[in-house]
Amino acid sequence: MTGASDFLKRIRQRWHPGDQRDAERAAHSVSDSSEDIERSARTTARAVCTLLETPNLTALNLGCGYGRVDKYIAPHVKTLYLVDVSENMLRLAKARLSEFKNVVFVQGDGQALSTIEDAQIDLVYTMFVLQHLPKEIAFRCLLEMNRVLKPDAKVLLQFPNAKSRFYREDFLYNAVFGEEDNPARVRSYFVEEVEWLVKTAGFDCAEVLEEGYDGKYFNRNEISVIGRKSGVVTLGQLRRHAADTREGLKRGEWS
Ligand SMILES: C[S@@+](CC[C@H](N)C(=O)[O-])C[C@H]1O[C@@H](n2cnc3c(N)ncnc32)[C@H](O)[C@@H]1O
Repeated sequence: MTGASDFLKRIRQRWHPGDQRDAERAAHSVSDSSEDIERSARTTARAVCTLLETPNLTALNLGCGYGRVDKYIAPHVKTLYLVDVSENMLRLAKARLSEFKNVVFVQGDGQALSTIEDAQIDLVYTMFVLQHLPKEIAFRCLLEMNRVLKPDAKVLLQFPNAKSRFYREDFLYNAVFGEEDNPARVRSYFVEEVEWLVKTAGFDCAEVLEEGYDGKYFNRNEISVIGRKSGVVTLGQLRRHAADTREGLKRGEWS
């Protein structure tokens, strides 16, 4: 079995809720009530909808879960692609959004959006998903977002802020209890790192919000990024770049 398919199997095993309450617990603190979760979903959806600059647009959510926010976004777009690795999450999302005929459900392979053609999408949003992936795979997901987005289209990203107490404590817990084998453990990020990753994947950072802001998209522990596609960046281009610079390293050109 290859590393990639082994990883996919492990993340699918991690995300297999039985019902919506199970799925809510996967994405939220266990102390949050269903009403609180629903209220925060509506608030986030309103913020996402402010990014839809004209009517009749096509949006895509990478890692939709049970469709928590998507239920409130579907009425505002022409087509909504909901992508998730988990069959169970998609089953719950289908039930939750059954009234909408403009939603396309896609079971993803964890890193590519292979069924979606290039330059089709006006807005990609993803929340509480990239944080569960190894950073290399999260970066390849950014490249896929770049590929499927139209020129100048926007992306809304969430990353856990490594500077926040919440995520520092989370890291410490994982370190001392040996959680490094948990494939879905949270990987947190510093703002400078996020900006570099997002730019390298072909986006201008139109807006980067971290602690101290008014909670426009997510709560204060999160970094929110609104990126705008600035050009096409492909895996092939970056492979050539990486191979060339590795050769330069061997020749001592990096010192
Ligand atoms: C914490 S939940 C968040 C769900 C949803 N975004 C929300 O905010 O309610 C993480 C979700 O991401 C999905 N997921 C994890 N890794 C993924 C990947 N590489 N590609 C697509 N979905 C993924 C899981 O199956 C799960 O439904």
